[in-house]
Amino acid sequence: MATAKSKKASPAPVTKAAPKTSAAAAPAPTSAPVHQVPSYLDPNHLGPWGIYLTQVDRVTPYLGPLARWVETLKRPKRALIVDVPIEMDNGTIAHFEGYRVQHNVSRGPGKGGVRFHQAVTLSEVMALAAWMSVKNAAVNVPYGGAKGGIRVDPRTLSKGELERLTRRYTSEIGIIIGPHKDIPAPDVNTNEKVMAWMMDTYSMNVGATATGVVTGKPVDLGGSLGRREATGRGVFTVGVEAAQQIGLPIAGARVAVQGFGNVGGIAGKLFAEAGALVVAVQDHTGGIANDKGLNVPKLLDHVAETGGVAGFKGAEALKPGEFWGTKCDILIPAALEGQLTKENAGKVKAKMVIEGANGPTTPEADDILQDKGILVVPDVIANAGGVTVSYFEWVQDFSSFFWSEEEINQRLVRIMKEAFAGVWNTAQQHKVSLRTATFIVACTRILTARDQRGLYP
Ligand SMILES: NC(=O)c1ccc[n+]([C@@H]2O[C@H](COP(=O)([O-])OP(=O)(O)OC[C@H]3O[C@@H](n4cnc5c(N)ncnc54)[C@H](O)[C@@H]3O)[C@@H](O)[C@H]2O)c1
Repeated sequence: MATAKSKKASPAPVTKAAPKTSAAAAPAPTSAPVHQVPSYLDPNHLGPWGIYLTQVDRVTPYLGPLARWVETLKRPKRALIVDVPIEMDNGTIAHFEGYRVQHNVSRGPGKGGVRFHQAVTLSEVMALAAWMSVKNAAVNVPYGGAKGGIRVDPRTLSKGELERLTRRYTSEIGIIIGPHKDIPAPDVNTNEKVMAWMMDTYSMNVGATATGVVTGKPVDLGGSLGRREATGRGVFTVGVEAAQQIGLPIAGARVAVQGFGNVGGIAGKLFAEAGALVVAVQDHTGGIANDKGLNVPKLLDHVAETGGVAGFKGAEALKPGEFWGTKCDILIPAALEGQLTKENAGKVKAKMVIEGANGPTTPEADDILQDKGILVVPDVIANAGGVTVSYFEWVQDFSSFFWSEEEINQRLVRIMKEAFAGVWNTAQQHKVSLRTATFIVACTRILTARDQRGLYP
């Protein structure tokens, strides 16, 4: 741990969990949950990791005898912080902070994306890694959970600087990743090109081409057909299933999307193709709306050309904050975490929120949405399409036998529908939110694996 705050040796601080548990009929917890916070996090500012801990508390009463292992979920197995120095184009040397966290590997190798963003923190990467453990178990792919990131705004870098940063970072985390150990993938501000550099760097270091070390690669380098669209397709598939359960027809449904990148852009496109009206979109450049429905293909072209939705013709600009109150049936947060908060959740008019992003809803906002009768389809099931096709990519790389896009999409849709049905039934059975239900299904699988493996040594 390179940047752990130096404190004198003392027991890990203990912090009380947020008081509210699942609004539905949860078995009473035997004692108030307390969290031992590692010395390298500030117990008063736990960030996204604090949100994740609250979610674990909400599932604990449903874990039965497996609850004896629950502390396993409340700490990452491994967290690596690396210094990433690169030479900038102007000859100076710049240093960036990089992370790779493996939250849990009981069910298989670590799996999760790499994020390049100026606000990345250890707490955030820990939470994202933990959500990957839950997500992978929820759709039953044989992976643990991991995540990585670099604290950088990649838009400020030249292509050469970005490549040097990616390669040095890959080399630094090379000691813990590998096709059988931990397999990175794209996330916010990383893409196929970044994955190609990561694959090449790892391969150069081990002396053999190792296509299975990352997923989300270009198809020419062992990538999978359908991977780029997979997360958005999964959001759409699960959204349609959930809409059916609440009697909401997709044709004519009004959809608002925050984030119009890989996930939000594809999800918006698929909903529009199914006859829904995408009436509002917000990204880092601003918000736009058209009550009659935005022209999504043209908006995607505009974003590709200009880098954001602002300035799109055929829409009016939204004032800051106005987006959340959009009159719509389906709201898809598909940007960053912590977007739906207690400050704006009360404004939401949708019947359903489908979480394309990881961790977009704080627990307080979750409760407000639940009180308003709004169905929240949580990230840990809604955006699992990406990792599902990443799993297909990894399997294809090992067998060097590649499937058609049709086969990929069919298998993806089948897995997503089955996983959603399982979560829906669990929610009905225990009368809990879909988030708690997904955690019940997933944490049961993770802790069953832990229990069956036993504790080493
Ligand atoms: N790409 C995947 O396969 C995948 C899989 C699962 C989950 N996710 C999650 O989906 C979310 C989006 O990922 P992506 O791959 O689409 O990233 P991306 O980089 O392609 O797009 C991110 C989008 O978010 C917008 N955005 C950034 N900051 C914003 C802000 N402050 N306000 C409003 N919009 C903002 C950007 O403008 C952009 O439209 C992330 O939470 C990511 O972890 C991605």
